Amino acid sequence: HFDGHDSVWLFGYGSLIWKADFDYLERRPAAIHGWSRRFWQGSHDHRGTPEAPGRVVTLVEQADAVCHGMAYRIAPRVFEPLDIREKNGYLRVVTRMDFMDDATPPMAEGVVYLAGADNAAYLGPAPEAEIARQIAASHGPSGPNRDYLLNLAQALRELGWDDAHVFALERELHALEVTSERD
Ligand code: BEZ
Repeated sequence: HFDGHDSVWLFGYGSLIWKADFDYLERRPAAIHGWSRRFWQGSHDHRGTPEAPGRVVTLVEQADAVCHGMAYRIAPRVFEPLDIREKNGYLRVVTRMDFMDDATPPMAEGVVYLAGADNAAYLGPAPEAEIARQIAASHGPSGPNRDYLLNLAQALRELGWDDAHVFALERELHALEVTSERD
């Protein structure tokens, strides 16, 4: 396993940015190239139900794109509970990560969880207003889908990173919630 390494970098770009409920040896801000973060994966076990799936992030290949996230150096055994937490269509992929801080090394290989278009829970693209409506309406065992979106947007803001898709969805969601409070 992992060539006998006693630690492995895990790149988090979704809930792992703000919720690291596992042991890690080191945590560093990082970016991966050629991937975009998109709310294109359905969630029927965390932020929705099989009847009314929510939407969570996956990575979509896109030339020139950069996805910022948080890298954790973990013992390989830490993957076991994570593989269970991250079921629902995600696979592990290895990719190069560029660290955003000034520590060394400046880059490393990292494992990332990715849900491809071929998994059963995949939803794919939709207009952002529609994605926001689905997020506003969805709830699952991990809580409201809206909290997932707002936590992600807040974490990216605090780290100083832009993500046009995430912030557009956040604006759409707030607009929906203002409208529903008025009605
Ligand atoms: C992430 O934060 O990187 C992540 C979390 C759950 C599933 C896939 C990825």
